[in-house]
Amino acid sequence: MSQPAMYGAGIASLAQPEQVSLLREYLDMRRTSARMCAPLGVEDHCLQPMPDASPAKWHLAHTTWFFETFVLSQYDPQYHPPHPEFRSLFNSYYNTVGDRPLRALRHVLSRPSLEEVRLYRGHVDEAMADLIERADLPDAAVQLITLGIHHEQQHQELIITDVKNGLWTNPLRPAYRDQPLPRPASGSVPSLQWQSFAGGVYSVGFEGSGFAFDNEGPPHKVYLEPFRLASRLVTNAEYLEFMRQGGYSTPTLWLSDGWDILRANQWTSPLYWEQRDGEWWNYSIEGMQPLKLDEPVCHISFYEADAFARWSGGRLPTEFEWETAARSVGFAGNFQDSGVLHPQPASGDAPLAQMFGDVWEWTGSAYTPYPGFKPAAGAVGEYNGKFMCNQMVLRGGSCATPQSHIRATYRNFFPPHARWQFMGVRLANGD
Ligand SMILES: [Fe+2]
Repeated sequence: MSQPAMYGAGIASLAQPEQVSLLREYLDMRRTSARMCAPLGVEDHCLQPMPDASPAKWHLAHTTWFFETFVLSQYDPQYHPPHPEFRSLFNSYYNTVGDRPLRALRHVLSRPSLEEVRLYRGHVDEAMADLIERADLPDAAVQLITLGIHHEQQHQELIITDVKNGLWTNPLRPAYRDQPLPRPASGSVPSLQWQSFAGGVYSVGFEGSGFAFDNEGPPHKVYLEPFRLASRLVTNAEYLEFMRQGGYSTPTLWLSDGWDILRANQWTSPLYWEQRDGEWWNYSIEGMQPLKLDEPVCHISFYEADAFARWSGGRLPTEFEWETAARSVGFAGNFQDSGVLHPQPASGDAPLAQMFGDVWEWTGSAYTPYPGFKPAAGAVGEYNGKFMCNQMVLRGGSCATPQSHIRATYRNFFPPHARWQFMGVRLANGD
C-alpha cells in the first residue's frame, strides 16, 4: 500500500521562523498519527466495538477533515477538496458544518478505503504545507492550525484506546503490537504519603501565552479548605484489596447511578481484568498479561474511583485541588512519547509522583464552565462548551497522551460510566 508523501522536507527558507516551527510541529504530529496506526492491519482500521469508540480509519480521516474544513476552506482560495462529499461524511458533531452519519455507524464506512483516506491525508498535508509557508498567513489561521494540531493529538490518544477496546473485544485478545517494549525494572512501590496543602485563595485556569483550550479559562480565584493529596496513584494491589473486601457487592459504597450501572453491566472488576485459573490477568496493548500489582489501577469509571475512595476513607480530589498541587511539581511522566502505552509503577521518593502521564485522574468535579466562560467564536465554539453537562473532569494526561499536549490546567471530561480511556485514581483527604 502506498504511503502519502511527506511534505516540508525542505522547509521554505523564505518563511518566518514561527511558520517554520509551526510547519515542523504540524508535520511531526501528522507522522505520529500514522505511526500510531502502523501496527494495524487494514481490517483493524475498521474496528468499532461500541458506539463510543471510532474506527482508526475514521480518526485518520476526521482529523484531516478538520484541517480541510476549518483551515483550508477558509484561508486558501485555491484549495479544491478532492472529495467534497467528505465534508459531511467525516463531520463528528459540528452542527454548524451540517449533517453527518450516525456516530454508532462509523464502522459501515468501508468506502472510502484506507488507501483513499491515506491519499486524502497526503493531499491535505500538501495544501497545508503550502498554506503555512505563505507570507501573508493570518493570525486567525495560525490559531486554527494550532487548534487542529491539538485536536489530532486528542484523536491519537483515542486511536490507541479505541483500537485497544476493539482488539480486546475479539475473543482471541490479540495484541496491538507483538514485540513488548523494554521497560525500566520496577522496584517496590513507595508507600503512600499524604502531602498537605494550606487552605486559602488560589488562582486556577490557564493564563499566559501558548495554546490552551477555551474550557481552561478564564483564569479565576477559588477558595480551598486545607486538603491532603496522595503522593502517588492507587495501585492494582490496593484496588484488589477493595475487591476482596466486597467492594463490588457493598451498595453503601456506591453512588446510586453507579450501583445501577454496576448491576446492569455485572461489573466485578476494572475493564480488561479477567480471572484465569484463580489468577487475575489484565489486557494491555501487548495482549493478556498476569496482573502486575505495583502498576496503577486503570480503566475504572468515575463510579468505581468514587466507591474505592469511600471504602478507603478518603475521597476524590476536586479539579482545583489537583491543579493547585500540580503547579508545585515538575512536568514529567510516562506519556505517549515513551512508546510504552501502558501505565507504569511509581518509583522514587517524589512528594507527588505520577501527577502527569500514566492515567487520567478522576476528580470529584463536574465539568462546568468557569466564571465568565465564552466558547470560541465560529464553528469551533462547538468544540468544548456544548458538552458541559453530565460529565466529570479528569486531569493530568495518560500514557497515551503526547507530552506536548498536556498542561496543569488541562480539563479532560468523560461521562461517569466511561472506562475505556486510561483512567485511574489518586486519593485526597481533608487535613
Ligand atoms: Fe474530533
